[in-house]
Amino acid sequence: MDFETLQKTRESCRIYSEQPVPRETLTHLIDVARLSPSACNSQPWRFLIVDQPEARAKLVEALEDEGLNGCPWGDRVPAFILICEEEAHLKPGVGEHYGSQHFAQLDIGMAAMALCYEATSIGLGTCMIGTMSQKKLHQTFGIPEERPVRLIITVGYPAKKGEPRKKLRKNLDEIIADNHW
Ligand SMILES: Cc1cc2nc3c(=O)[nH]c(=O)nc-3n(C[C@H](O)[C@H](O)[C@H](O)COP(=O)(O)O)c2cc1C
Repeated sequence: MDFETLQKTRESCRIYSEQPVPRETLTHLIDVARLSPSACNSQPWRFLIVDQPEARAKLVEALEDEGLNGCPWGDRVPAFILICEEEAHLKPGVGEHYGSQHFAQLDIGMAAMALCYEATSIGLGTCMIGTMSQKKLHQTFGIPEERPVRLIITVGYPAKKGEPRKKLRKNLDEIIADNHW
């Protein structure tokens, strides 16, 4: 699949079949994601796989954050991959000037994107989830307090196969500036 087709094919999947995702496949997604670029090659990420039933049930509880829940369909997700932000070690001067974590969320975003593209290319569905209770996640999964979970990616085989949905995106003329803002 060429990249433009992959970009048009990937979409957030929120309805999964009951088919489990093999652990090797989940590890493979992370293996590909870790090749992503990062500021000063700092790779400020740690991936936590949650695929066992008990752990999944606990995760579903931790998705609820004081009335906000971006993943109310979580109990039907075969596997989750949490991306936690690690301390970034940047080149001398860079961290001092911008702060060591200045680029970390960008880096994590790119790794997450790569993971989702690879998943699409092998027939899996994903959805990035940005809302969650940090407190519950840290308590439940033993994540150190200073390591925020930046994204949760749901992974599974899509329940329905077919044409991708129409992409709703801003028009080009709304997002391109020509030589000046
Ligand atoms: C940082 C981020 C956080 C997101 N959080 C959620 C979420 O909590 N729940 C959800 O259903 N989708 C979430 N999404 C998915 C977006 O809603 C989705 O990418 C967007 O509507 C475009 O649709 P598409 O992915 O199908 O192309 C998130 C996406 C990103 C990039």
